[in-house]
Amino acid sequence: MIPSSVPAPTPLTARTPPLSEPSGWHRIALTVNGEGVTAEVESRLLLSDFLRDRIGLTGTHVGCEHGVCGACTVLLDDEPVRTCLTLAVQCDGAAVRTVEGLAPGEAPLTPVQRAFHTCHGMQCGFCTPGFVMTATALTERSVRPDADEVADALSGHLCRCTGYRNIRRAVCQALDERFGE
Ligand code: FES
Ligand code: FES
Repeated sequence: MIPSSVPAPTPLTARTPPLSEPSGWHRIALTVNGEGVTAEVESRLLLSDFLRDRIGLTGTHVGCEHGVCGACTVLLDDEPVRTCLTLAVQCDGAAVRTVEGLAPGEAPLTPVQRAFHTCHGMQCGFCTPGFVMTATALTERSVRPDADEVADALSGHLCRCTGYRNIRRAVCQALDERFGE
């Protein structure tokens, strides 16, 4: 359960930030996995840190921290974004979906999650939430993406374990289930 209102943390010490350090707090209201969340956030707070540290959704993994590996991908208004390159304040009024929201509680796995399972599309699993969220966006399109579009979408994700073959099989299987073979 996501806390509906997240208070701003109390600063450890009162100090004047240097000019190079952005300051200021903003009140934001958004939905995360369908639940309303309001919070006071610092201007520079990354969406990855907001999700993981402020509201406890640690399924979004952080690898490179500079937009290269794709592990931190979530859906922002149904489009994949890298949370290490997105500020929490940019999400005011938006709908964020994380891997935790795909099959909450006892809900059945989504077709993408099932395909990653049956195709062994993971080993250590660190990259998996990012791949799964991008693949989910592909399956939610109104028209099946072609092979180049799938390759382009997956090229933004790095996996250090699988060699990618099973990941591509999983995404194709999920697309087959969604759009027909
Ligand atoms: S942690 Fe965001 S892209 Fe690598
Ligand atoms: S499964 Fe280990 S990094 Fe992808």
